[in-house]
Amino acid sequence: MPSIAIKTPSASYDVTIGSGLLRNLSSRLARLNKDKPFRPFVITSPEIWAHWSKPFLASFKAPPTVLLHPSGERFKRMAAVESLAQQLALAGADRDALLIAFGGGVIGDITGFLAAIYMRGVRYIQVPTTFLAQVDSSIGGKTGVNLLAGKNLIGSFNHPQAVLCDTDLFRTLPPAQLRAGLQESIKAGIIYDAKLFAYLEKNAATILAKKPTKQTQAAITRVVTASVRVKADVVNKDEKELGLRMILNFGHTLGHAIESATNYKQLLHGEAVAWGSIAALHVALSRGTITPAQADRITKTILRYGPLSPFKTTAAKLVALTYSDKKNRSGKRAYVLPTAIGSTQIIYDITDAELHTASESMLTLMRSHTTGATNKKRS
Ligand SMILES: NC(=O)c1ccc[n+]([C@@H]2O[C@H](COP(=O)([O-])OP(=O)(O)OC[C@H]3O[C@@H](n4cnc5c(N)ncnc54)[C@H](O)[C@@H]3O)[C@@H](O)[C@H]2O)c1
Ligand SMILES: [Zn+2]
Repeated sequence: MPSIAIKTPSASYDVTIGSGLLRNLSSRLARLNKDKPFRPFVITSPEIWAHWSKPFLASFKAPPTVLLHPSGERFKRMAAVESLAQQLALAGADRDALLIAFGGGVIGDITGFLAAIYMRGVRYIQVPTTFLAQVDSSIGGKTGVNLLAGKNLIGSFNHPQAVLCDTDLFRTLPPAQLRAGLQESIKAGIIYDAKLFAYLEKNAATILAKKPTKQTQAAITRVVTASVRVKADVVNKDEKELGLRMILNFGHTLGHAIESATNYKQLLHGEAVAWGSIAALHVALSRGTITPAQADRITKTILRYGPLSPFKTTAAKLVALTYSDKKNRSGKRAYVLPTAIGSTQIIYDITDAELHTASESMLTLMRSHTTGATNKKRS
């Protein structure tokens, strides 16, 4: 079973990927904590628990305490942290509490932050249940919640003891969630791993099969593993996002602007990133950092993993919104451009005019490409 090491100045732990990991969850927890007593508390959401409580609990002799919290971006708030902390306290959780985040990125981000501050810090592990959470949000120690003023504005770096990616969990994941998550894998391929990109390009039919086969499961596991490797490698080299880690933001400058322009309601995050990536390719093309043939392969692959939900906005609005990106420093926008499939550069001199032209081209492509796609957020 593939196991990928995260080794940063503040933490070392493994991300394990495979089928059937839930089956021996309890003994894994015991192995990770053999020197210190612990009491497990599961934090999950009702729909995930309805599907997966049985296999989750199968390995426990004494069932852990389970706290339920709804998934969904609007529930990723300080109120959730306070309510869950109160429930932990009432359930008798002390410094030996071990929190288990069993859910998508929302549950993972809340639980990681709660673990950072409950009793000034308790242990936690990530058992991510969405594709996006397995390849991205559960890895790298970023945790936090949203404010009305913006996403992820409160949080801390707090790594888990382990990340367990059980790929069986995708069996109940809505297909749109899987496809949107796969856009982050395409991104990982574009910025860092040409082989991963080529694999996604070549095996789309197997990966996206309506009736998943053994080959589908094997291909998806392979993609998760390669994507985790990209994230791990980048985080290991730049834990606190001082430089290299910014490349993970490819497609996200305009992606975040699109999410914000549509009030986070119409598109899944991966879909917004996909449109943002297509726009970034226009910038790369006009600056000559990639060839038309490469841009064409990337655009085709992104669209192949659709349909991507369409949305209504203007290029001017998107450009204006890029100024409130949290990643900006002293008013400067860091922008990620591919220099080939598998490598990137970060530029700081991106102009409004370039972003405007790129957004216009992307919006034109969107209008011609999304007949038949829904425009309702499917989460
Ligand atoms: N910390 C990080 O580094 C990082 C990185 C990327 C994204 N994020 C955060 O991740 C969040 C998005 O995460 P997400 O896309 O996983 O969304 P999510 O957690 O809201 O989950 C999406 C939906 O899928 C359902 N679901 C989850 N697993 C399921 C399963 N196995 N079967 C059936 N349904 C299931 C959930 O109940 C929910 O309705 C955002 O808040 C984003 O800010 C964090
Ligand atoms: Zn993302």
